[in-house]
Amino acid sequence: MSLKKTSEFLQIVDDIINNEKFLALKHELHHGISRYEHSMRVAKMTYMMTKKMHLDYERATRAALLHDFFIDKDTECYTTKETFKVHPKIALINAKKYFDIDKKQANMIEAHMFPVSNIIPKYKESWIVTLSDKIVASHEMYRYKAQMAIGIWLIFLFNVIAIQK
Ligand SMILES: [Fe+2]
Ligand SMILES: [Fe+2]
Repeated sequence: MSLKKTSEFLQIVDDIINNEKFLALKHELHHGISRYEHSMRVAKMTYMMTKKMHLDYERATRAALLHDFFIDKDTECYTTKETFKVHPKIALINAKKYFDIDKKQANMIEAHMFPVSNIIPKYKESWIVTLSDKIVASHEMYRYKAQMAIGIWLIFLFNVIAIQK
């Protein structure tokens, strides 16, 4: 990312990356790195894509950064399989608690696990957030879980085709 874009990106997310609860994600393990680092990668990719496509890039970047805004303690009463489905809702609850989240951003966060969760992305920005998450997660997981990364893409594609019918 160019210096100009990096500076704009940091300006957009400034209050989030300085929030105490959000900083706790630095200590949460996610795809072999920290959940903070994963969220920053998804936010940067969303920023680049939505800006290029002349979409609502500021809101999309912030929602992308908050898409996995939860600590493991928030999901300790769920199994790993259940956590896959429920964590977007928990991330949204946390995001609303600390930041102003509008209807569109709520969908970007809640639908990011489509098609694992049955919430469909309603906006172009929501599709960008879920795609960015899948691209970043595949890259992060590929090192040790290649089959899982390929599986995520196949399930996603089958479901995208299914909702077109
Ligand atoms: Fe997630
Ligand atoms: Fe994620």
